[in-house]
Amino acid sequence: MGQNGHHLPKHVAIIMDGNGRWASSRGLARAEGHAEGARAVRDAVETATRIGIPYLTLYAFSVANWARPRGEVEALMRLLVEFAKSERAELRQNGIRVNVIGALEDLPTVTRHAVEDLMAYTKDGDRMVLTLALSYGGKKDIVEAARTLAVKARAGLVLPEEIDERSLQLHMTTHSLPDVDLLIRTGGETRVSDFLLFESAYAELLFLPIMWPDFRPETLVQAVDHSGKKERRFGLTPEQLAKKNLQAFDPFDQPS
Ligand code: IPE
Ligand code: IPE
Ligand code: MG
Repeated sequence: MGQNGHHLPKHVAIIMDGNGRWASSRGLARAEGHAEGARAVRDAVETATRIGIPYLTLYAFSVANWARPRGEVEALMRLLVEFAKSERAELRQNGIRVNVIGALEDLPTVTRHAVEDLMAYTKDGDRMVLTLALSYGGKKDIVEAARTLAVKARAGLVLPEEIDERSLQLHMTTHSLPDVDLLIRTGGETRVSDFLLFESAYAELLFLPIMWPDFRPETLVQAVDHSGKKERRFGLTPEQLAKKNLQAFDPFDQPS
């Protein structure tokens, strides 16, 4: 149970937007906004672990972000290396396992190696899975899964009529993650910018006006508390849902 007895979301995903505007409004370079954003990442990870969220996924770099000015892309790639190096000991100590979705192979070698090292170093973490979305695109992930299945079907390894949501998802880079319960976007824009399109089908969406570097531990605690009060009905009526919850009730079932 979360604060005030509400259920904790199992999977929280965050679109960390607003670094550039945070910096510009202070007369700083955009890269300085990203550096400050990395500090907010530490806060978010620490808080999510403390309150017991099992899966935290952060949108760090989208497929579309490759089109940004070269200097900014390089600064982001450097920051990732710094993050991987400076945080590795603490992440492991706190039982956090780092995972990646998207196309890690698209990243510059130095960055890719730093992230691979971070994943290997934290592989035994069993308290929280921290997933970094790197060179990630939701549409691309779906398309590539469809293509892989089509190739398997052509080879006779998969029957087209047996393809379902589960088998499609098993071929996406998010295959090891549960569906998103709460999707937060900072920065004030009310769009999802190609993030976890398939996995957020029934997620609660929360758009915050604050810029990502201003994200604080309390922001996450409040967001989680707010989402815990919402009733997600998955297409059912409130009455059907109450009955279903009653049937599914197990006094020994400890929420994770
Ligand atoms: C961070 O915010 C998102 C990343 C791509 C790392 P932005 O860099 O998009 O900041 P704004 O939206 O321009 O303020
Ligand atoms: C989404 O933010 C991508 C990340 C947070 C990594 P963007 O700033 O790239 O998205 P748009 O351009 O506002 O849609
Ligand atoms: Mg932005």
